[in-house]
Amino acid sequence: MSRDGLVVAVAGATGAVGREMLKILQERQFPAREVRALASSRSAGARVPFGDDELMVQELTEDSFADVDLALFSAGGDTSKTFAPIAAEAGCVVVDNSSAWRMDPEVPLVVPEVNPQALKEHKNIIANPNCSTIQMVVVLKPIHDTVGITRVVVSTYQAVSGSGQKAVEELQNQVRALFNMQDPACEVYPHQIAFNCLPHIDAFLDNEYTKEEMKMINETAKILGDERVRVTATTVRVPVFYGHSESVNIETAKKLSSKEARGLLSQAPGIRVLDNPRENIYPLPVDAAGTDETFVGRIREDPTVANGLNLWIVADNIRKGAALNTVQIGEELIRQDLLAR
Ligand code: A2P
Repeated sequence: MSRDGLVVAVAGATGAVGREMLKILQERQFPAREVRALASSRSAGARVPFGDDELMVQELTEDSFADVDLALFSAGGDTSKTFAPIAAEAGCVVVDNSSAWRMDPEVPLVVPEVNPQALKEHKNIIANPNCSTIQMVVVLKPIHDTVGITRVVVSTYQAVSGSGQKAVEELQNQVRALFNMQDPACEVYPHQIAFNCLPHIDAFLDNEYTKEEMKMINETAKILGDERVRVTATTVRVPVFYGHSESVNIETAKKLSSKEARGLLSQAPGIRVLDNPRENIYPLPVDAAGTDETFVGRIREDPTVANGLNLWIVADNIRKGAALNTVQIGEELIRQDLLAR
């Protein structure tokens, strides 16, 4: 870091996550002397909001990183595969939001509340986990540390914003079309998403799971640093704009009552317990949208196994699930003095 502060670049600055990254850098007064907005040649010269100001978008090229200390990437896996090594070689530390580097053994996969120590091993590329994984591990971590999680069964209810701005527009357009007695156009998803649920996120694999499901399975073990935590997942797209929800059933080595779980989680970093069903209080995606915490409620003991709990976990997928976690990794790099320059 130069004496005057950091030069920070956001790659994919015109996208849904990139725009949120710029907003969060500003909101949290990230110690940057300069912030650069990078995107494809299509957007060069366009302007994106940055606080009360605007930034002029520059084309992302091989020469974009010579004097950049920290680059936050959210421009798709192919762009990350090509440009993250170039940036890293130029001495810039990359925090990448795509799935391109997450399972690379040389690349730390980090949620600051869970495994900040993993950053120490970085070689200039750090991966931001999948949105659904992030909010789940924030809640699993304190339970795992206390009573040892042996098995997790998760079903997700994921918002369309996780598929980018085009998917947000597709849901809006389909709702409008259906109320006007017209056929809904399906471009982003293979089926109508309005008033529907699609048990299909990302591509299907040979093992009959989707890539999204395998991300949750593999990334959870890597972040918790414990291969013994067995995870199975069903990931579902639902007609919600912002905020992913998850029904999570866990089995633990030792017993944890629902009351103890509430107490434990209410003390844990980044978590807010909202669990008063008598008053109709439980986490909702419409309330989580625009916030920074991971919300947990509907905490119940599962009587069908020796030591089991059911949880309902909700977070803003664009903020904690993506942009906020990436910026928090940047903050943690500064705290641990781990930026390269
Ligand atoms: P652009 O707007 O110029 O296409 P989203 O996930 O919301 O669709 O956003 C994707 C982001 O990634 C956008 O900012 C997009 O820029 C950027 N992007 C996509 N492809 C490239 C590329 N080849 N080089 C740089 N940025 C890219």
